[in-house]
Amino acid sequence: MKKVENCRLIRKKEIADGIFDFVIESEDIAGETQCGQFLHINCGESTFLRRPISICDAGNGEVRFIFEVKGKGTEELAKKEVGDYIDVMGPLGHGFEIKSGVKNPVIIGGGIGVFPLYKLARELKTADVFLGFRSKDRVVMEEEFERTAKTVIVGTDDGSYGYNGYIASAMEQYLSFHDCDMIYSCGPMPMLKAVKKIAEDRGIRCQISLEQRMGCGIGACLVCSCETNKEGSDKYAKVCTNGPVFYSEEVTLND
Ligand code: FES
Repeated sequence: MKKVENCRLIRKKEIADGIFDFVIESEDIAGETQCGQFLHINCGESTFLRRPISICDAGNGEVRFIFEVKGKGTEELAKKEVGDYIDVMGPLGHGFEIKSGVKNPVIIGGGIGVFPLYKLARELKTADVFLGFRSKDRVVMEEEFERTAKTVIVGTDDGSYGYNGYIASAMEQYLSFHDCDMIYSCGPMPMLKAVKKIAEDRGIRCQISLEQRMGCGIGACLVCSCETNKEGSDKYAKVCTNGPVFYSEEVTLND
């Protein structure tokens, strides 16, 4: 059973308008975290349900998570100050698989989907990384990824910075000239659908991290179910425990 812990907030920064970068203290969570797992956080009194927030990085007794203010819960969470305690459950979920034989990994993230990919990029060390954002003012973590990846290509949907257009198109062009034997992705559903198609057309294995509404976070409420390509009782999987990371061929991506 995953532990619920009160963790002290030790660093806090607003890295873009409404996007907060938090670091909390927890030897246990930092020691256990695998890339792509998440925390289930009690944001405060404004909301009954915990919020699932991806772990961006973990190690040396510290756990980092970055979130966008999107409603009452995250609004209250963003008001926490350094020294305050946060009620956290985790690490939860099934994260990214790092396969030993993979030689040319590609990571692709869109928007707030770039955050759970950072620890992965650090561990892979030699990934080609694609980061997509709406516009220049939403670009975050570019330099941090540059310090840990082989290549980093940043794009914006409106062309205000970097590659002009959807980041999946940038990756597709890149794959015409470069080898790749595993794609890791996280981001908005249209991007994930495009990435899945590009990967499957080229016969490249692809791991996808799904974002889903959650209730319990531990497999008990079924709020987070997603459709798989299996039949019968295995037709639906739980994003909180079977995922959030799945191989692209395992799941049907619905809007
Ligand atoms: Fe309750 Fe997944 S959130 S089963």
